Amino acid sequence: MTTIRIQDIAAHAGEEVTIQGWLRDRTDKGRLQFLQVRDGTGIVQAVAFQKDLDAATFEAARKVTQESTLVLTGTVRADPRAPGVPGGYEVGVKTLEVRQLAQDYPITPKEHGIEFLMDNRHLWIRSNRQWATLRVRATAMRAIREWLDTHGFVEMSTPIITPAAVEGTTTLFETDYFGEPAYLAQSGQLYNEADIGAFGRVYCFGPTFRAEKSKTRRHLTEFWMVEPEIAFCDLDELLEIEEQFVSHIVQTCLRENRNELLLLGRDLATLERITPPFYRISYDDAVKLLKQLQAEAVDEEQKALLAIEWGSDFGAPHETAITKRYDKPLFVIGYPTAVKAFYMEPWPGRPEVCKSADLLAPEGYGEIIGGSERISDADALIRRLEAHGLPLEPYKWYIDLRRYGGVQHSGFGLGVERTVAWICGSEHLREAIAFPRMIQRKYP
Ligand code: 4AD
Ligand code: MG
Repeated sequence: MTTIRIQDIAAHAGEEVTIQGWLRDRTDKGRLQFLQVRDGTGIVQAVAFQKDLDAATFEAARKVTQESTLVLTGTVRADPRAPGVPGGYEVGVKTLEVRQLAQDYPITPKEHGIEFLMDNRHLWIRSNRQWATLRVRATAMRAIREWLDTHGFVEMSTPIITPAAVEGTTTLFETDYFGEPAYLAQSGQLYNEADIGAFGRVYCFGPTFRAEKSKTRRHLTEFWMVEPEIAFCDLDELLEIEEQFVSHIVQTCLRENRNELLLLGRDLATLERITPPFYRISYDDAVKLLKQLQAEAVDEEQKALLAIEWGSDFGAPHETAITKRYDKPLFVIGYPTAVKAFYMEPWPGRPEVCKSADLLAPEGYGEIIGGSERISDADALIRRLEAHGLPLEPYKWYIDLRRYGGVQHSGFGLGVERTVAWICGSEHLREAIAFPRMIQRKYP
């Protein structure tokens, strides 16, 4: 008998099949037992009818507990009312073998507090919302590689153990490297800038570490980032690449994870709209818009949160207020040099502004990409390193890149969890990765 995966059930209507999985839930209707079975690819209702089964099999169906491991055989029947994912089919049980009988599964259908669920994250990932979100994440990661691999980018593995900061010294994770300090990578960008000298267009894709000391919904201490870097590319060309890339990720998730997104209650129309071109606004105009929104705010607390002067970076409240007004992602272009990293190219004729652009996701989600054109002149770079109070020695090789084949180049970093949280409509990044790392959480 064929063992099938629930996601393929439609192809097996009328056949007798085997399903291997776990019991999600059971409804006892006396002579009828409705078993909700999940196998990792989907959920199906299996119906055990006393009249059709020998006593031992029916007894097993009546006694099987939540999250017990089971193998069942039965006949697949099309039924438009049948619940499940993909749904529309149920299985009439013929045999049932319980491989492990689970006792007192801690996560019950009642409400649990978030700390309890996080302590049981190793089990919580089986629950519908978590399962659906992590399936979307896997698709997003595949779509990321797919787009870059078919657009001339070479994947490079940049180091995790590094001698120097990329994104400021305050979030560095320091480790003891045989008696000398070393830091976990905050970004692979600097190495990518070397890699483009050899390969033209590259990307790195891996875990990234930041000792984020504040507790927010949008920050993890370990997150995944994909970082493309492109030679002979200015800021305008970079933004065109970003909008194509992000649209591909969203459209792939929509196509391949429709059931998961519906299970999450996501409004699919808002995602269908995500196609190029995205909106563009200057930092200057974004500040004007925020001042106007602040003036219009009636709530005093909101008024205080929205306060901003030209020259400050945006906080989460600012990004939320701006992006709630947009139905597609929005590029904010030309941030003040003082609030951004040392490597960004100055705006021609306006050194107080740099050729940077953040991409903010709509519906209040905020920044998912940070990107810029990079400084391509060695002396200008040295002056910026000095202005940031950084030692030149660890960056010697990085400055060299401007001396041997220096080139106009640009790149960006997209955070996987921020992107997945937006696509799935999740409130918090902790649900967008299986085992999140945050300031107060490293278990399990
Ligand atoms: O804006 P960031 O700091 O940019 C860089 O690291 C550049 N070196 C990238 C590059 O140009 N190659 O980070 C990029 C993205 C953010 O937009 C956000 O999506 C994500 O990484 N990110 C985080 N995600 C979760 N938790 C955190 N603590 C994050 N910090 C950044
Ligand atoms: Mg950023």
